[in-house]
Amino acid sequence: MSDIFIIAIDGPAASGKGTLGRRLSQELALPHLDTGLTYRAVAHELLRGDLPLDDESVAVEAALRVDLAKLDRATLSDHAVGNAASKVAAMPAVRRTLVELQRDFAASPPGAVLDGRDIGTVVCPDADVKLYVTASPEERAKRRWKEMQDKGQDADYQEILDDIAARDARDMGREDSPLRPADDAHLLDTSQMDIETAFQRAMTFVEMVKSR
Ligand code: DC
Repeated sequence: MSDIFIIAIDGPAASGKGTLGRRLSQELALPHLDTGLTYRAVAHELLRGDLPLDDESVAVEAALRVDLAKLDRATLSDHAVGNAASKVAAMPAVRRTLVELQRDFAASPPGAVLDGRDIGTVVCPDADVKLYVTASPEERAKRRWKEMQDKGQDADYQEILDDIAARDARDMGREDSPLRPADDAHLLDTSQMDIETAFQRAMTFVEMVKSR
């Protein structure tokens, strides 16, 4: 077995892939990268500088400045940043720049857990374990709604559901690296599954590969 172990997790917004990624990274003592944050960092930089969201060369400049050590989930989790991120994520030159960073992150021992939309298909096509985490749009909207309620934020279920549907359409419909399961990905539908069960299932796939 090589001294690099890579777990690729893909799936739509609010599917639970981030939570699963963090859990696997802790269990296996592997660094974790939420690649969505890299697209969000580009979007945040453009918004902060009042720069256009539809100029690919300006967005690439911002992508070249992304520092993985400085990704701050709290700042980047903003709703407006997520929306802008899905626009810059459709730009091929931005993707190329960020994919290079993501591959470098995965390439040093002991490997890594990466989650996103194109990890198993584009970023790490040779990953040791590939997971595709999904759940129905209604279930994902319910989770987002509850998360916001728990934080004391105003949340409208229908608005969240519409937003999730729009985000799915953009992520799955774009030309460059659309969201789809890799042919050799294990599917985990978490509509009726709690995070602990999803984690246990994922661990059985990991153990299978490790014992080979
Ligand atoms: O998972 P997220 O909401 O933080 O992702 C933000 C945007 O970035 C989302 O529209 C999808 C896009 N993205 C992507 O295209 N490829 C990735 N590997 C990760 C995220």
